[in-house]
Amino acid sequence: MAAAQPLIRSAQLQDIERLTDVLTNSFYDCSGWRYWVYPFIRFGIQEDLKQRLKAQSPRYACLMAVPPTERPAIAGTVEASLRQPWPWQGDRHVYVSNLAVAEGFRRQGIATALLQSCEQLARQWHIYELRLHVMEDNVAAQALYRKAGFKVCQTEDTPASWIGLQARRLLLHKPLTPPAPWP
Ligand SMILES: CC(C)(COP(=O)(O)OP(=O)(O)OC[C@H]1O[C@@H](n2cnc3c(N)ncnc32)[C@H](O)[C@@H]1OP(=O)(O)O)[C@@H](O)C(=O)NCCC(=O)NCCS
Repeated sequence: MAAAQPLIRSAQLQDIERLTDVLTNSFYDCSGWRYWVYPFIRFGIQEDLKQRLKAQSPRYACLMAVPPTERPAIAGTVEASLRQPWPWQGDRHVYVSNLAVAEGFRRQGIATALLQSCEQLARQWHIYELRLHVMEDNVAAQALYRKAGFKVCQTEDTPASWIGLQARRLLLHKPLTPPAPWP
């Protein structure tokens, strides 16, 4: 039986504690000695997110997925921002970042639903391309993006990746079909 669809809504400042938990736990391993730096990492993530939410930019959205049966919980989150690069850097696009699903809610289609909401948002902004970065060693996220229709458009090396200390960053994109012109 398919899992019930989560409710996806814009995040508010009052959601920040729970959003920070989802982000910090999804992106940082707090085992061993890392346990001691976890509060500082969490604080940094929370402050950055607070700035973005407080700015209330019409070109930015933080979305969150709320499971249908456990309303106070946050199952996942994603951020989308409208980017207007320099002409030589390509077209206007919606940049997707900080996609994270809490461990107990994974493999239920929540990330897929969040990406679909980003697509809807892009269309509302009249933008027909999504872009995002993923690390080359993030197998789960790469499988998700491939299934959602993203393709690699650039591989980014850094000095750390040249000497094998860090995985390379991949820039992925997904063109969206614009609406048909009026007859
Ligand atoms: C990557 C992540 C967002 C996926 O979230 P999710 O809600 O579990 O993803 P979905 O249920 O929508 O998965 C859709 C498809 O993606 C692929 N996928 C997702 N997780 C996978 C995994 N761990 N291994 C292999 N494939 C995976 C599968 O094809 C899956 O379809 P299926 O379940 O029918 O096989 C989640 O694992 C996460 O938060 N990871 C840590 C943070 C992170 O890496 N974010 C991405 C940064 S670029």
